[in-house]
Amino acid sequence: MPAAQHPAYPVGLRLTDRKTIVIGGGQVAQRRLPALIAAGADITLISPSATPSVEAMADAGEITWVRRRYEEGDLADSWYVLVATADRAANDLASAEAERGRIWCVRSDDADAATAWTPATGRTEGVTVAVLSSEAADRDPRRTAAVRDALVEALRDGTVTADRTRTPGVALVGGGPGDPDLITVRGRRLLAEADVVIADRLGPRDLLDELPPHVEVIDAAKIPYGRQMVQEAINQALIDHAKQGKAVVRLKGGDPYVFGRGMEEAQALAAEGIPVTVVPGISSSISVPGAAGIPVTHRGVAHEFTVVSGHVAPDDERSLVDWSAMARLTGTLVILMGVDKIGKIAEALITHGKPADTPVALIQEGTTATQRRVDATLATVGETVVSEGVKPPAVIVVGAVVHENPSRNQR
Ligand SMILES: C[S@@+](CC[C@H](N)C(=O)[O-])C[C@H]1O[C@@H](n2cnc3c(N)ncnc32)[C@H](O)[C@@H]1O
Repeated sequence: MPAAQHPAYPVGLRLTDRKTIVIGGGQVAQRRLPALIAAGADITLISPSATPSVEAMADAGEITWVRRRYEEGDLADSWYVLVATADRAANDLASAEAERGRIWCVRSDDADAATAWTPATGRTEGVTVAVLSSEAADRDPRRTAAVRDALVEALRDGTVTADRTRTPGVALVGGGPGDPDLITVRGRRLLAEADVVIADRLGPRDLLDELPPHVEVIDAAKIPYGRQMVQEAINQALIDHAKQGKAVVRLKGGDPYVFGRGMEEAQALAAEGIPVTVVPGISSSISVPGAAGIPVTHRGVAHEFTVVSGHVAPDDERSLVDWSAMARLTGTLVILMGVDKIGKIAEALITHGKPADTPVALIQEGTTATQRRVDATLATVGETVVSEGVKPPAVIVVGAVVHENPSRNQR
């Protein structure tokens, strides 16, 4: 049977410290080199020129760059070669040398003439997915890439679990601000693997509907105990379920470590010897202003942003925030949990010298279908919250960035 009719034989090359030659420093090399570098290959690039990204790899010492065209003998002692120049004759010469030397050779210009093909690959959580067309005649890089994408996506979101080992203990997963698309890939996968999910009121609650029926979903707000005891009760519920050998996800709004009490839970679990995985989330402090069109920094306008909790008023003895320092900041102030106290907070900022006409925006239920934005100034925000009926959850942004929008001129 002619070679073209046989399927390729799939194999995983272990290239660590093995001499690998790449001929041609253009776009193909730029796309292939990162995986070869990740594989630990001892890479020599032979090419008179290279793209800026490939050049950066050489500058960083990840590859050795020989700045000339391919010459006969360049493949000596190598294990693997990628031929990827725009010069067909040079590619033919290099692949002929590879054939003579029995070195597997990938060609970017002629798959039929190559002795090896690069599969469409993707990696997720310890698995490499590699997809090849079965026959040369069927080679369709778009199809293999699409199959790869579908498989990697399914593994990431847990649609395909393939009985993999589950992450032991409890995962504290940052669910992002509310839009179910804004959870991380890892968070979504851990959710799909969970036996028990203990969820907050904030965060991507829509994702809970997608969980299979056997998954026990516990509303953290409904765990019975007095107000002061709620966190202890949540910690205990996490511990109890983990000790029963269940895969437990604590699904939190935003990021677990931004006013999320994530560390308290991690400490309680660690004290019981229960492994904890923390999965960062997109915090509402940045994403909710962004969803309402407000950048928390902007060149020439704000060189810093500060995120503070407004859950206690400035004159409350429990407050740990230095409001006079906040008033002196020239950048952006982002206040979480501040709807009830924003009148008093604005007064304190003005008293400490912040101009009363400093713009303020309140974004309620950001990134969800019910998101709304209400604008005010420090002087008016206390009244505006009441007259507009702004309710938690809302992120409050104080500073000149509130007036930025895409149609404003670049400075
Ligand atoms: C207990 S804190 C948790 C913050 C969370 N860990 C984070 O990183 O976004 C809750 C506060 O976050 C803000 N918040 C969270 N999600 C929000 C959303 N979708 N829209 C507006 N504010 C939100 C509100 O200020 C709310 O009172």
